[in-house]
Amino acid sequence: MKKLNSAIIGCGNIASMHEAAILSCHNANLYAVCDIDSSKTLEMKQKHRCQVFAQYQELLKSDTIDVVHICTPHYLHAPMAIEAMKAGKHVLTEKPMAISVSDALEMVRVSKQTGRMLGVSFQNRFNHTSRRVKEILNTGKTGRVLGARAFVTWHRGAEYYSRDKWRGKWETEGGGLLINQAIHTLDLLQWFMGDIDTIKASIDTRFLKNVIEVEDTAEATIKFKSGATAFFYATNGYPLDSVVMLEIVCEKAVIRMEGDVTIKYSNGDIEHISDDEKANGEKAYWGCGHKALVHDFYKKLPEGQHFEVDGNEALKAIKIVNAMYVSHKIKDYVEVG
Ligand SMILES: NC(=O)c1ccc[n+]([C@@H]2O[C@H](COP(=O)([O-])OP(=O)(O)OC[C@H]3O[C@@H](n4cnc5c(N)ncnc54)[C@H](O)[C@@H]3O)[C@@H](O)[C@H]2O)c1
Repeated sequence: MKKLNSAIIGCGNIASMHEAAILSCHNANLYAVCDIDSSKTLEMKQKHRCQVFAQYQELLKSDTIDVVHICTPHYLHAPMAIEAMKAGKHVLTEKPMAISVSDALEMVRVSKQTGRMLGVSFQNRFNHTSRRVKEILNTGKTGRVLGARAFVTWHRGAEYYSRDKWRGKWETEGGGLLINQAIHTLDLLQWFMGDIDTIKASIDTRFLKNVIEVEDTAEATIKFKSGATAFFYATNGYPLDSVVMLEIVCEKAVIRMEGDVTIKYSNGDIEHISDDEKANGEKAYWGCGHKALVHDFYKKLPEGQHFEVDGNEALKAIKIVNAMYVSHKIKDYVEVG
């Protein structure tokens, strides 16, 4: 099988997950890396003997590159993805796909216009536990979904924000806790429970008031078109990155995800689903799904098959986050279009 030539733009924290996933993918070849900071690309160049670019516009001129992985600060995702697709490259971008709904819509439009595949890194959808829960919900054996609750209690201190200047600012991060950390859980909630009707939310900067412009704490009531309601709480002010808790109450079962999953059926049966590949180490909260997501992207690409977390699908999370910010401003429920 012909290998696809990959390039990573932005060689900071998350790039190592893309690097490892590309290297372990049978039809991908790490051809180039790009970062405005040459200290970030030096090690990659030595390890992989790949091409190095300081300006992404130069990288996009290379006809050899098939797929571009965008691992840069949030505000750069949309312009880089749009330019890359117009230059004929397929794009896999880190979350969030964009910092505004209009930018995300433009990315979807350009993907359609150019015929280039646009994927977004919502890797938690590829965890074994998430996929099993989705399958079980789809079988109907748990009955109708009645409601849910989700808690994201993580730690992002002042040093996290001061280390990288793009964080903590509306202009470059596009928000705080919601668009950066909690977006994974919001994406899972709507993936499991279906389309959202309205949201009422409030946000606050409770812990880092003089450090960041954006929110570090948020809560929301999320009303789904199905009639179910989800109760959501998230903060970056917790002392540790605890495992996300997501509980779904159905007519015939309660599904509790906290790393592993326990399903208690109303007939007394209990089902345990274990996370197949446990994430370890300092960044365990990233999960293990990146490899599966990247491999699936490269599997679908040559076959012209639909990649599940495409632009349209990832747009939903941007609409949810945006609705939360608007709801906080107007202090009322907001429709999620
Ligand atoms: N999926 C996940 O679980 C997950 C986890 C962590 C980060 N992320 C996402 O990954 C992205 C990057 O986050 P990070 O923590 O790696 O950030 P980072 O600041 O560590 O890395 C960003 C890199 O982009 C480079 N860069 C900035 N402007 C550039 C430009 N014009 N051209 C080329 N390179 C440029 C920076 O020099 C830096 O090396 C963000 O969107 C973030 O939300 C996702």
